[in-house]
Amino acid sequence: MFRCIFSEGNIYKNLLDGQWVNSRSGKRDKILSPSDGSLVGEVPATTPEEADAFVKGAAQAQKSWAKVPVNERADILHKAAYILEREKETIADILVREIAKNKKSSLSEIARTADLIHFTAEEGKHITGESLSSGAFPGFHETKLSISNRVPLGVVLAIAPFNYPINLAASKIAPALVAGNSVVFKPPTQGSVSALYFSRVLCEAGLPPGVLNVITGQGRAIGDYLVSHPLVNMVAFTGSSKVGKHIASLTGMKPLLLELGGKDAAIVLEDADLALAAQHIVAGAFSFSGQRCTAVKRILVMDPVADKLIGHILPLVRAMTVGRPDDNADITTLISGEAADFVQELIDDAMKKGAKLLIGNKREKNLIYPTLFDNVTVDMRIAWEEPFGPVLPVIRVKTVDEAVKITNDSEYGLQASVFSKNIEGIFKVASQLDVGTVQVNGKTERGPDHFPFVGVKSSGMGTQGIRYSIEAMTRTKAVVLNFN
Ligand code: NAP
Ligand code: G3H
Repeated sequence: MFRCIFSEGNIYKNLLDGQWVNSRSGKRDKILSPSDGSLVGEVPATTPEEADAFVKGAAQAQKSWAKVPVNERADILHKAAYILEREKETIADILVREIAKNKKSSLSEIARTADLIHFTAEEGKHITGESLSSGAFPGFHETKLSISNRVPLGVVLAIAPFNYPINLAASKIAPALVAGNSVVFKPPTQGSVSALYFSRVLCEAGLPPGVLNVITGQGRAIGDYLVSHPLVNMVAFTGSSKVGKHIASLTGMKPLLLELGGKDAAIVLEDADLALAAQHIVAGAFSFSGQRCTAVKRILVMDPVADKLIGHILPLVRAMTVGRPDDNADITTLISGEAADFVQELIDDAMKKGAKLLIGNKREKNLIYPTLFDNVTVDMRIAWEEPFGPVLPVIRVKTVDEAVKITNDSEYGLQASVFSKNIEGIFKVASQLDVGTVQVNGKTERGPDHFPFVGVKSSGMGTQGIRYSIEAMTRTKAVVLNFN
């Protein structure tokens, strides 16, 4: 059982310098379950005036945290991962209620996060510098030796989205901490109860006061203040491209890691294994009801095999269960009524412009049934916009070049999949795609979490992935020995 007291009933607190605190203003945000409207909890609606203390405390604590040997920092992370595993049922039940992620996927988010933290703790011990001799450079002899190391940046502000409030918090917090940074963590408001449970895990593992400060409150109320704070040395953000670009406009010379939106295409060539492609596409498009940055968000299929591909996809979509997250339904309610309204707008636009509805276009409040369209054309919004919901458009193409063009014409560039049996052809297509990662004969996805994860164009900035994130959260510090 948890030992840290971080709530009074379902009124939750923030973590400030080792103490669980209420907002001084007494204001709170009510977190309601998207699936049944019940109250999950109340969290402090912190004001910008109060936010200053969270950053200052973290900046102060970082000085001594950076001096703690890395193996001791890693030990605390390992302990956190064990506590997370121990508390998986409790936390998964909160995820189920708070973001309507089904129980199986909630448990898997937690297991994956524990693995990520263990891996990060070990990787942190292996981050090394290098030494360079001046003799390699023209005009120099062996008169100088540069010895460089990776040093922490200071305070990392970690901002996570609603769809993975634990995993995408840990993917920022763990590398930042193992590298000797302190962290100010701003959870997504819908997702903040889950995130506070996760913060409690880190607190109980023995982080010194202030090394992790956790502040809840609406992003639109405290976000600008936090990202612009002079004592914040780096911002690691996952969320929409709109908010990511806004943050970038405020942060000046602060290093940024931005993981933003996507419109990942599955390109299916004529010689593809269509049954395999269909399985990957359906799993990629509809898991967590399409609320994943890496969801397959459009199919670009060669016209001669389109009917056959759809013949494989349709029964898989039909077989998906729709209902409650605690019943482990495949498709559950979207995060909010506004999110469902937006998805419906895209569906209505496609219907109006003549797309062929194969299944779906059914809605009960914020529950959208899985929807598949054929004959989608490039004048339809669904060809370009990220629905973040269970809607999948099929765009038939005549040539591989057309598939590449439509993929690259997107404002996004997260991932793409190519399905084919011809490995040379795959590499040719992959080399032309303007995305961070190309998946060959597999769905678009981020994991495993030590792989490099990159978004280009409106999909992000910088490279994530365990070692890459640690590198991004440290800088080179060189000392040069001069042999006089
Ligand atoms: P969002 O609305 O952009 O919110 C993300 C986070 O930013 C939340 O914690 C939010 O707080 C906060 N925020 C809002 N305004 C802010 C501001 N002015 N300054 C600082 N922070 C601010 O995104 P979301 O709806 O949670 O997530 C869905 C989006 O994230 C999709 O576009 C998806 O593709 C993207 N995403 C990308 C990746 C990736 O790895 N590329 C992964 C997951 C999700 P509040 O909750 O309080 O508003
Ligand atoms: O929503 C964005 C997550 O980073 C996606 O991770 O592809 O492993 O589900 P995933």
